[in-house]
Amino acid sequence: MSKAKVIAISNQKGGVGKTTSAISFGVGLADKGYKVLLVDCDDTGNPSLTKFLGENPDELEATLTDLMMFTLFDRSIDEVLPKVICKNQEGVYFIPADNKLPGITNALTGFNDEEKKKRVLCSIVDKLKDQYDYIILDAAPSLNILSINLLAAADEVIIATQSQGASESGIGELIQTVIRLRDTVNPQLSVRGLLITMVDNRTGYSKAKAAEINNAYTALGMRVFKTCIPRAVKAEKCPEAGQSILKYDPSGKVAVAYKTFVEEYLEE
Ligand SMILES: Nc1ncnc2c1ncn2[C@@H]1O[C@H](COP(=O)(O)OP(=O)(O)OP(=O)(O)O)[C@@H](O)[C@H]1O
Ligand SMILES: [Mg+2]
Repeated sequence: MSKAKVIAISNQKGGVGKTTSAISFGVGLADKGYKVLLVDCDDTGNPSLTKFLGENPDELEATLTDLMMFTLFDRSIDEVLPKVICKNQEGVYFIPADNKLPGITNALTGFNDEEKKKRVLCSIVDKLKDQYDYIILDAAPSLNILSINLLAAADEVIIATQSQGASESGIGELIQTVIRLRDTVNPQLSVRGLLITMVDNRTGYSKAKAAEINNAYTALGMRVFKTCIPRAVKAEKCPEAGQSILKYDPSGKVAVAYKTFVEEYLEE
């Protein structure tokens, strides 16, 4: 197996569908036969990817918090690694987070070594690259030091953005950060594209907003994925069921859109 491609799903705006997209994309790739690892990097104290996959963060033996802490303080993660990696019923592997992850962000913020503090997640991911085809990092809604760690570890970024409100307002800042990191810690980092989520096909506003985002970013030379993810009530319900939308409602429009997105992603 060649080395995994590492993809960060980012946007510092909250609630735009990052976690839902990370899971659906991961499950979609696993359905195609790829070996996929999802990493819950949400340090808001609400590890949603972990919960969306049906795990209770309080009951886990070890999480990303342990891996980050060990790595930050130069302890080997070899022993703890097998305890951290879970496999879910839909065939994806994942590293869960817990509500202590914000403590890691604080530790990183106060850490003196400016280079090392950006590369802690990267060191962990590097150890895993040989074992997977894709490693997908689910970002928290921020551009703090942990989010910088995601961008330092990633080969590419997919920016999830909702087709309403001002969820695209932070995209410029995110792209600036990518460009800055490309000049410093991660020369190979690229923005793979913008994924427009939660399009409400019943409202002209949502469709118009999706078209506006598409035109604006295409004009700037950025790729906007042709596949847009529609909004559907079933997608709001699947986290409670601990299932991806691909399992919860496999023939529904959101699952179909994510499967189409996987095809579009794999085309090039
Ligand atoms: N296509 C969709 N249709 C309807 N609801 C959706 C859809 N995608 C996601 N949701 C719901 O919207 C909410 C926000 O989605 P999600 O948690 O994936 O966003 P996020 O960007 O990861 O949020 P955060 O920034 O808080 O991490 C969740 O309750 C989710 O179930
Ligand atoms: Mg999330």
